[in-house]
Amino acid sequence: MKIFGKVIIFTGSKGGCGQSFVANCVANYCAIKTNYNILMIDMNAGSKDSRAIYNISKEELMSIADIYSQKKKPSISEIKKIIVNFNNSLSYIFPPLKHQEQFFTYTFLKYLFNLFKGIFDLVIIDCDLFVDFNIKKGSIYDLSDELIIVSLADKVSVSNLNSMIDYFSKGKENLNIKVLINKYNIKPSIPLFNLNSLIRYPISQFLPYDRDIENLYLTKGPASIFKYNLKLINDLSQVAESLIMTIFNDYNN
Ligand SMILES: Nc1ncnc2c1ncn2[C@@H]1O[C@H](COP(=O)(O)OP(=O)(O)OP(=O)(O)O)[C@@H](O)[C@H]1O
Ligand SMILES: [Mg+2]
Repeated sequence: MKIFGKVIIFTGSKGGCGQSFVANCVANYCAIKTNYNILMIDMNAGSKDSRAIYNISKEELMSIADIYSQKKKPSISEIKKIIVNFNNSLSYIFPPLKHQEQFFTYTFLKYLFNLFKGIFDLVIIDCDLFVDFNIKKGSIYDLSDELIIVSLADKVSVSNLNSMIDYFSKGKENLNIKVLINKYNIKPSIPLFNLNSLIRYPISQFLPYDRDIENLYLTKGPASIFKYNLKLINDLSQVAESLIMTIFNDYNN
């Protein structure tokens, strides 16, 4: 049987670059605009971002680390316990509230993601590079169909971004990469006309910072922002639409 679900990983070139913001917004857009089943996985242990935007403060809510075992595959009922469904086509897996090192084996993650791909049309993962350093015998990025790197436009971020691009294009030639430049309109930022020559990869999208949208996102949640006809919203919609197209094309081929 062909498995259609796609795994898309969002990562970033520096803390605070907006990788979680973009990932959560894109997941919500896809759930609102299509009938596809979407799963959003927040792999950032100890960060309260995704929990805060959904008011999920329950400490006892299980995360991937709780069902992890090196010896035994988790059962379907165990897996169901970590998935929170929001009464529509959007589901979430939240991280543990307290920071803890998360060690997984590649085989475990492969098993889990393949299972998700059989249930969900799109699995979006918010995952920092350092999460990958704790994965034994493989890399989480080898399990993704597409990697979206979010970066700010300042000097340090761009330098980190180039190192990441080198890292991924040497070891993982088959990985489909997209680069998004976020908050290009706030300082310190390299002028746009210089960015294209400084970044060693084509830029897919430039997303502006929008303070009203940030407030809305933080107070009313990511689904609330798509009512507004603003540049940031149109740009985020385009990022999401391109993912929807890849699922659509797969089903129709
Ligand atoms: N384009 C944007 N417009 C408005 N607000 C944004 C934009 N991008 C990010 N933000 C806001 O900036 C803040 C930092 O973004 P976010 O938490 O997504 O960054 P991150 O890269 O995931 O950081 P961390 O390293 O903490 O995980 C958040 O409050 C988010 O809502
Ligand atoms: Mg984050």
